[in-house]
Amino acid sequence: MKIFITGGAGFIGAVLAKKLVDLGDEVVVYDSFVNFISPFKSHYSDYVKHRFIGYEDKVKFIRGDIRNKDRLLHALMDQKPDVVVQLAALPIATTSDDLTEEATEINLNGTINILEAIKHKASVKRFIYTSSSMIYGDFEYIPADEKHSTKPKGVYGATKLSGEILTKAFCKMYDKEFVIIRPSAVYGPTDANRRVSQIFVENALAGKPLILHNGGESRLDFTYIEDIADGFLLAIKKPEAANQIFNLTRGEGRSLKELAEILKKHIPDLVIEFGEVKQDEKRPERGALGIQKARDLLGYSPKYSLEEGIAKYVEFIKQTGVIKKEQ
Ligand SMILES: NC(=O)c1ccc[n+]([C@@H]2O[C@H](COP(=O)([O-])OP(=O)(O)OC[C@H]3O[C@@H](n4cnc5c(N)ncnc54)[C@H](O)[C@@H]3O)[C@@H](O)[C@H]2O)c1
Repeated sequence: MKIFITGGAGFIGAVLAKKLVDLGDEVVVYDSFVNFISPFKSHYSDYVKHRFIGYEDKVKFIRGDIRNKDRLLHALMDQKPDVVVQLAALPIATTSDDLTEEATEINLNGTINILEAIKHKASVKRFIYTSSSMIYGDFEYIPADEKHSTKPKGVYGATKLSGEILTKAFCKMYDKEFVIIRPSAVYGPTDANRRVSQIFVENALAGKPLILHNGGESRLDFTYIEDIADGFLLAIKKPEAANQIFNLTRGEGRSLKELAEILKKHIPDLVIEFGEVKQDEKRPERGALGIQKARDLLGYSPKYSLEEGIAKYVEFIKQTGVIKKEQ
């Protein structure tokens, strides 16, 4: 198969691209190589160069923006892929709330550009759209399955949900299969978006204290990068995935306190502090997602517990030497 991955140079896309190459598929990455974190706070360039080691010549890279309709259309006309996977996004909820216009242009209009570009491309049989667990808003029950109501609390979740609706409508109109994937709290080597797991791991290795708000009781469905990438493979390959929506996560809610305690096992002198109660009304209250549908239809079976995933993540950051212990 030939797979065209928008945002394929990113954290999730790179692991997916390498797995596809290993399976003998042809991979085209269409990516603008951006990071939305301040360069003073980010290790983006340090991590990004680790993403394709040994695969630089096995993947075709096209530098391009999904907002650029002409370039996208020409790339798709030239490449004639069987499947298009849309991962390109402004992927950070807080930043999307601040940069509303940019988030809408990339996450929503960019997705529409891809749908427009593939609608008359006979080669493209399937479109995989990457949504988010943020489309649910506050979880009303746990585990939240795909039938849970969708009430996003911010711009990011709203753009992702709008993209889902457009994906379904376009694919029905133009007779393409779609698969919608809702990941949550993906963590592991080369993440550069400073989500909570990256901040905790890097701060712990730098010798800084970890500060837990609300007693560290907030729960997330932390999903190791290899597991989500395996889930995408199933969404690309399995006939049963056609026209379905899947939560693809670990399927367990783990607290930030548990994450800190796991890190303390690797870094015994880690200091864990409890900060004042900070209730951020804009962040949805989440927890475990239901993944039974993906287990039943796709045979999805996440392999990494938070303990196992964090062990691999810590080992990777130590090996890169990007984070140095502060004296
Ligand atoms: N990582 C998570 O925890 C998580 C959770 C839920 C959903 N998602 C979604 O998964 C997808 C991938 O996330 P990620 O963690 O790999 O993020 P990432 O930032 O590492 O990767 C996104 C990639 O998209 C590219 N990109 C951004 N804007 C672009 C544009 N306008 N045109 C072309 N390329 C562009 C970036 O250069 C980057 O390589 C995103 O859609 C994100 O919203 C991620």
